[in-house]
Amino acid sequence: MVAGGDPGVAASATAQDHWSSRFAFVMAAVGSAVGLGNLWRFPAEAGANGGGAFVIFYILCVVLIGLPILLSETLIGRHGQSSAVESAKVVARESGASDGWSALAWVGMLGAFFILTFYSVVAGWVLYYIGVFGTDLIAAIGGGTLFEGAFAGQSVEQVQGHLPSLFADPLMMILLHGAFMGITIYIVARGVTGGIELAATWLMPAFFLLLVGITVYGAFTGAFGQALEFMFAFNPERLLHGPVMLSALGQAFFSLSLGSALMITYGSYASRSTNLAGASTIIASADTSVAIIAGLAIFPIVFAAGLDPALGPTLMFQTLPASFQAMPAGSLIGFLFFVMVFFAALTSSIALLEAPTSWAIHKFGAGRSRTAITLGLIIFSIGMLSALGYNVLSHVRPLAFWPTFAELDILDSIDAITGKILLPLSGLLTAIFIGWIADRKLTDAENGISGGLHLIWRFLIAWLCPIAVSLILILGIFPGLIG
Ligand code: TRP
Repeated sequence: MVAGGDPGVAASATAQDHWSSRFAFVMAAVGSAVGLGNLWRFPAEAGANGGGAFVIFYILCVVLIGLPILLSETLIGRHGQSSAVESAKVVARESGASDGWSALAWVGMLGAFFILTFYSVVAGWVLYYIGVFGTDLIAAIGGGTLFEGAFAGQSVEQVQGHLPSLFADPLMMILLHGAFMGITIYIVARGVTGGIELAATWLMPAFFLLLVGITVYGAFTGAFGQALEFMFAFNPERLLHGPVMLSALGQAFFSLSLGSALMITYGSYASRSTNLAGASTIIASADTSVAIIAGLAIFPIVFAAGLDPALGPTLMFQTLPASFQAMPAGSLIGFLFFVMVFFAALTSSIALLEAPTSWAIHKFGAGRSRTAITLGLIIFSIGMLSALGYNVLSHVRPLAFWPTFAELDILDSIDAITGKILLPLSGLLTAIFIGWIADRKLTDAENGISGGLHLIWRFLIAWLCPIAVSLILILGIFPGLIG
């Protein structure tokens, strides 16, 4: 589905590439935003943090903090017409400010780079489950049991045992992580229009169809009412609860792909005629809708099986597969579900690789393919530490006096450092830069809003965003400050 396109397009980009349409820009940006964050993190966080209160606060965070920063990032890119770092420098120079403001893009790019190291490992688990359900689907068709539950004849323990047996298999984990990185590199190497755009404009519509299909299926065959209750039950005493507010804001940041240099990069490929405020609103609404619908797709299936919505990675990789065991046509729906997750993860990983790739192409002037392959291999190698931390390296100490890899939990630690420090830091610098430093005439000519909306945006980006993001940053570094 990704092949095709003009093979000649993969050449190096000296002149700035551009999306071929506004639709392509929006699909690529939505593709980056919609990912593993929406599909298991959001439902799990909503469930763990009091349902309705979390959802309401999350939507507030998206509108009041996410959206103004999203607009600021796309604006920097479109004005700079270069990689994220160079674009930030262009805006800084034209505003008479120091080149040092490009730190906002540097920090974000490091964030994207490190997120991809573990994102690809988790996406490898998704590939594994496509295989597990695919095998089961073939067996079900062969045995004439297609309309029955998945994994006929296996116990719940056996179904849930697929994840630990994958973790115990270092070769399989590396192969899957490598396969996923390989596909990502291939698409990024093919270029902005010939690779990224082509993948997004096919995969995202397919993703939406699958998501709606699975949700409707869950609404008819699953425990939809119970899922609604679980996700939206309003729990007012938790609304103004520090940790809930904190995780909602952090989740909004991660989910919208903010603070990762990416929206600057994708903004730089947007044409002058694209209204950035309009496009940003569509991107943020699509991402938020997918997160909420994902909850309405997953929980009815889990509740129908009478299972507890265990939180964290086990929700998608153990609880859900066990739930498909009890659903009619479980093998088929389970297979389609993981194909859908794969599409979402792939359009995000492409974006995660594109942010540093675009910088390196501009910086070193090497060809796009060579740059994407080199960066991809470095990311793959660092990611191996996350994958092998579950098995061969689990008892190894990186330095004699350090904890073991299992204790360090590389995957979770990189997730925490990027999500709690790098992304908010980049977002904070962006808000201060656009709110206080950048030339007003320059930003006003890019943002596509006027009148009252413009005043609101100025207020949010100069005041609310820096204050709120500073809070997540401080509390992310010193978690002990709140109970
Ligand atoms: N938004 C992605 C998700 O929800 C994760 C992500 C964070 C990301 N920053 C990014 C993806 C930058 C692409 C680029 O899964």
